[in-house]
Amino acid sequence: MSSPALSLDGVGFSFPGRQVLAGLSFNVAPGEFVAVLGPSGGGKSTLLRLIAGLLPLGAGRVLVRGTPVTGPRQDVGMVFQKATLLPWRTALDNVLLPAGFRRGASPAERTRAENLLAAIGLADSANYYPAQLSGGMAQRVGLARMLLHDPDLLLMDEPFAALDAMTRERMALVLQKLWQERPRAAVFVTHSIQEALLLADRVVVLAHSPGRIVADWPVPLPRPRAPETMATPEFNELALKLRRLFDEVAA
Ligand SMILES: Nc1ncnc2c1ncn2[C@@H]1O[C@H](COP(=O)(O)OP(=O)(O)O)[C@@H](O)[C@H]1O
Ligand SMILES: [Mg+2]
Repeated sequence: MSSPALSLDGVGFSFPGRQVLAGLSFNVAPGEFVAVLGPSGGGKSTLLRLIAGLLPLGAGRVLVRGTPVTGPRQDVGMVFQKATLLPWRTALDNVLLPAGFRRGASPAERTRAENLLAAIGLADSANYYPAQLSGGMAQRVGLARMLLHDPDLLLMDEPFAALDAMTRERMALVLQKLWQERPRAAVFVTHSIQEALLLADRVVVLAHSPGRIVADWPVPLPRPRAPETMATPEFNELALKLRRLFDEVAA
C-alpha cells in the first residue's frame, strides 16, 4: 500500500497561554479531498500552517508522503485565508510566480496560467494589479497560482470565503472540475457545510478550545456534484447531521 499523502498523528499546538489544537490524528490518501469544518477561532488556519511547515509543531507528527514536515516544501501548495499577492505584479504574473522565481515562465506555463485564470472566471482581469482586484478575485488568483505550481498536496484556507454566495458555489464546482481532471490530496478548510459537501470525499469536524476532531465522516455523494446534488435527500440529510453536530460543538 502506498503511504498516505498526509498523515497527522497526535498533533497539538499552543500559542502562549492558549492551547489551540490537541491530539489531532487523521490521514489523507493520495487523490483524496478532505474538508475540515470548524467554528471560527477553532484553529483551522493554525492547523493548515502546521501542515505547511509554517509553524513549529507543539506535539505529535505531520508526515507528507511519508516524510516529516520540517518547513515549507515544494510538493505542498497553499492558498491563504488572506490572499498573498505581490502588489507590483499583475494577476497573471502573480499566478506565474512559482515558475517565475525558479527560471522564468515558459510559453507553455503562460498558456496554462491563462487557462487557469479563464477557468476561474478571471480571463479579463489577467493584466490587473492586486489593488484593482476585489478580495474574492485576489483569492481566486491565489488558487490559480497554487494549481499552476502543481503540488501533490493542496492546502486551502477558506479560499472562497470573500465571495458572494452564487460565485462561491460556482467556484466550488470549478475547483471540483479542476481537481477531477487531476485528483490530488487536498485539505480544504471551510465553515460552510454546503461547500464541504460539494467538494469533499470526507469531512473532518473540529470543535474548539482546544481544537479537536469530533467527527470524521465520508461523503458518499456521486461526482461530479452539481447544484442539483444540493437538492437530493442524501445531501440534505448529511447537511442536517453536520449542522446539528456543528451547533453542538460551536455552542
Ligand atoms: N499569532 C497568534 N498569536 C496568538 N494567538 C493566535 C495567533 N494566531 C491565532 N491565534 C489564536 O488561535 C486560535 C485559533 O486561530 P485560527 O487558527 O486562526 O482559527 P480559525 O482559522 O479556525 O478561525 C484563536 O483563538 C486565535 O485567536
Ligand atoms: Mg482561519
